[in-house]
Amino acid sequence: MIGQQIIQLHEVDSTNNYAAKLLSEGKLAHGTVILAEHQTAGRGQRGRNWQSVGSKQFTGSYFLKTDFLSVDHLCYLNMGIALAVRGMIQSFTRKNVTIKWPNDIFIDNQKIAGILIETNWKNGRVEGAIIGIGINLSPVQSVVYATSLEEISGKSPDVLDVLDVLTENMNKFYQYVRQSDFDYLKSTYESFLWKKDEEIILEERQNPVPFTGIIRGVDLIGNLLVEKEGVITIYHNQELNFEANYASEKLKM
Ligand code: BTN
Repeated sequence: MIGQQIIQLHEVDSTNNYAAKLLSEGKLAHGTVILAEHQTAGRGQRGRNWQSVGSKQFTGSYFLKTDFLSVDHLCYLNMGIALAVRGMIQSFTRKNVTIKWPNDIFIDNQKIAGILIETNWKNGRVEGAIIGIGINLSPVQSVVYATSLEEISGKSPDVLDVLDVLTENMNKFYQYVRQSDFDYLKSTYESFLWKKDEEIILEERQNPVPFTGIIRGVDLIGNLLVEKEGVITIYHNQELNFEANYASEKLKM
């Protein structure tokens, strides 16, 4: 069962780093979750920082054994995790909670949660995954395109209540990955994709010229399918910049 063992820390550099250290020492059981009140060097995607910025946050990492999963199917683990986090946030609001490809959680044009999945591979299998999750519980003043559970639900929830719902969702979606229910994961993930079937402004990071495109879905290995001028282009992770669509001022919720 995921979430049976909980390690609660007051302060740590990064819960993902802490998990990686325990794993390297052979001291980390499947399903363990590590929670920290403060991270001094929280990490985000693309080598960025995930800063505490003085607001109340959920910062935690789950360790999952995934040696049943071929590396070709890694994207389905990402889809399952994004769906689990999305579902947890949806339980706090009637607003539409979406997944900005590949795994940011958004409400309208504002980010509420981020996910950092770090895996180790052996013989073509994904041996295990450290899944770092950061969720804004109270308003983050310094980031204009951020929102929080407090802003969407009217109250700042308790970290352990968030953990309970999240863990329930993690157990549910891990089973879909475990059972290779890839069609279900892909279609459910696509049904929650941020801005799907809408015209948005995009930019290729290698060729930063803004263009209008429409997200149509993902392919079988999790790449993004974008339609531009009637033609579908496949994008890999980190090739696109979406920031032109983010909220440039705090939205009234
Ligand atoms: C992102 O959106 O860039 C991903 C952010 C992931 C942040 C979480 S907080 C808990 C875990 N520990 C880390 O150092 N990072 C992740």
